[in-house]
Amino acid sequence: MKMAGKLGAILTVAMLTPSAPPVHAAPQYVGSEKCKICHNRKDQVNQFEIWSHSAHAKAYATLATDSAKALAAKAGIKGDPQQAPECLECHVTGFGLDTTHFAPAFVQENGVQCEACHGPGTAYKSASILSTTKYASNREEQHKLALGAGLTIPDEKTCVKCHNKRSPAFTGFVFKDYYERIKHQYKR
Ligand code: HEC
Ligand code: HEC
Ligand code: HEC
Ligand code: HEC
Repeated sequence: MKMAGKLGAILTVAMLTPSAPPVHAAPQYVGSEKCKICHNRKDQVNQFEIWSHSAHAKAYATLATDSAKALAAKAGIKGDPQQAPECLECHVTGFGLDTTHFAPAFVQENGVQCEACHGPGTAYKSASILSTTKYASNREEQHKLALGAGLTIPDEKTCVKCHNKRSPAFTGFVFKDYYERIKHQYKR
């Protein structure tokens, strides 16, 4: 009886103390440096390099320039544009979300990063989903798995969340032309 009681207690403790890491309710933003690990190949279209030379990579740094300060002043915003929610909204990734949505490695300073368009990556960036061999053998199935893990395939609607008249620097947006300037698709 004594033994059974002890065993019961151990089992109860075991059931209350899961050994698996806590599962996050939603995927988190990891930052472009994590995507770089696989998307920086010299023998293919190099997504990381294309992005790092784009205006998006500099979007946060831009807020420190004199023209940003002038635009902020004109909009009646006092203080540093790099601290102003009215500016950060479109110049960083995952603006307005609390810290539980960001992995520890995430760096806001890297501006409009991969995940601003492709969704938070902790789940889909897994090598078991985004695998070269699995994509080669069954692209459709892997694509479905990636979408299920939070990957988004952006379109014009994604862009106009930021490219719109609420931007104090707005000069218009034509998807086809703008897309041409940031495109980073593989040549298949
Ligand atoms: C472990 C390596 C690895 C990491 C890390 C990784 N990727 Fe990928 N990614 C791949 C591979 C491999 C493919 C499939 C390539 C192909 O089409 O053959 C892919 C495909 C994609 C696709 C197209 C998927 C589809 O089904 O249409 C997108 C978009 C993408 N990656 C974005 C990202 C972003 C954003 C990050 C960072 C959050 C990231 N990847 C991190 C390896 C990786
Ligand atoms: C999270 C907000 C956000 C999203 C989403 C976004 N952009 Fe941008 N984009 C910006 C910001 C901010 C800049 C200006 C950055 C700078 O100059 O420092 C910019 C600049 C650009 C530029 C350079 C413009 C210039 O005048 O030099 C192009 C091209 C562009 N974006 C294309 C796109 C396309 C295409 C999409 C959708 C697939 C998109 N962007 C989605 C925020 C965004
Ligand atoms: C609704 C989204 C949005 C908001 C809010 C926003 N921006 Fe931008 N910003 C953009 C986009 C998109 C671009 C790219 C310009 C383009 O081609 O339309 C940009 C470009 C810029 C540029 C570079 C172009 C230039 O004219 O020098 C500066 C500087 C800038 N923004 C400053 C600011 C400041 C300062 C604030 C806050 C007062 C702000 N932005 C708020 C989306 C936004
Ligand atoms: C401003 C938005 C934006 C940003 C930032 C962005 N992408 Fe994309 N990405 C797109 C769009 C739009 C497509 C084309 C989607 C389609 O197939 O219609 C795309 C497609 C892709 C593909 C699929 C290519 C293919 O041929 O299957 C990969 C891989 C990818 N992006 C990786 C990345 C990585 C890695 C980063 C950061 C280094 C990044 N993207 C940053 C908008 C973006």
